[in-house]
Amino acid sequence: MQIIYFDNAATSWPKPKAMIKSMADFNANVGANPGRSGHRLSVEAARIIFNTREIIASLLGSGDPLSIVFTRNATESINTAVRGLLQSGDHVITSGMEHNSVMRPLRAMEKQGIELSVVECSAAGSLSPDDVAFAIKKNTRMIIMTHASNVTGAIMPISDIARIAYDKGIIFCVDAAQTAGSVPINVIKNNIDILFFTGHKSLYGPQGTGGFYIRKGVDTMMEPLERGGTGSRSEFEEHPDFMPDRFESGTPNTIGIAGLCAGATFVSAMGVDAIRKKEIALTELFLDGIQQFKGVKIYGNMDPAKRTAVVSFTIDGQSPSDISLKLDEKYTIMSRPGLHCAPSAHRTIGTFPEGTVRFSFGVFTTELEINIAIKAIETICRESTNK
Ligand code: ALA
Repeated sequence: MQIIYFDNAATSWPKPKAMIKSMADFNANVGANPGRSGHRLSVEAARIIFNTREIIASLLGSGDPLSIVFTRNATESINTAVRGLLQSGDHVITSGMEHNSVMRPLRAMEKQGIELSVVECSAAGSLSPDDVAFAIKKNTRMIIMTHASNVTGAIMPISDIARIAYDKGIIFCVDAAQTAGSVPINVIKNNIDILFFTGHKSLYGPQGTGGFYIRKGVDTMMEPLERGGTGSRSEFEEHPDFMPDRFESGTPNTIGIAGLCAGATFVSAMGVDAIRKKEIALTELFLDGIQQFKGVKIYGNMDPAKRTAVVSFTIDGQSPSDISLKLDEKYTIMSRPGLHCAPSAHRTIGTFPEGTVRFSFGVFTTELEINIAIKAIETICRESTNK
């Protein structure tokens, strides 16, 4: 059975063969705990982790591998920053297009005394930098927002917002869960203080990997989420304050990071610009194909260059979950219906509480698969009008 996988915004699949091989090789030939024991296998495990820091630092535009911290996922990275930097009395600004990975930690911090402003976006999901500037107060400590919506794919004007934050000395944090590896980004040129990434989406690594970039100077302001063994400065009972050990404790997911290393190497070899070009073309093909069908409503900006390879749509008279089920059962097309863990984004675009059907493409998506999906949607639309 030929699976058509259009759920890359949830996790990319299939994965590059080199990624699968790298994890198998680690298990078969290395297996040791990195940076702990000093024997050759332990040194090799540490080398794999350092190489991964190097390649991710280079993909994100940071010249410093030690500015990259590994976590379990983007959510853990976001929690580290929100809980490690904010204190009662601080004001934080976010957007109306956020995922719960940003909204829920912020809502929890509100109970601990932070003030939160959620800047509204347009019905198409776009954000005005002027509105962000207008929301700034004397006590604004952080602006935290997504680089691109996981619902509409809308790419946010992060360079403009970074400039506003920089001028006011506000910490600027970007959730790049939907973009790291698929949309060019440069943490230095874009003045980003902290950038959260996941390993298992556009970096083509395995689930359970992620991390963050943090600017030198901001790292020392931020408290770690956890403390423990690092393999460094073992003579002290206080946790080390240097990077990246400050934010990494306990045995890491070395096998996952080995996979992430191969995934990120695959992305780097292909080139983020080339990946972006391919994904824009695929998105354009799909948007052009379905927009003419009666009853189809597409959300977000129709210009594929202004969005990631994510398309949310609805079909009149059918619920998103019924459509997704039909796509799976009849056409073996995998999609994600509902709210995509981003109720605030769905409120913004007017699709709360039912949500949308979301297609999300990746580097392995083919034009043939998109054309098959367009035909399937045409048939589903016809079923709606024949009811
Ligand atoms: N955040 C992921 C998604 O949008 C899981 O599907």
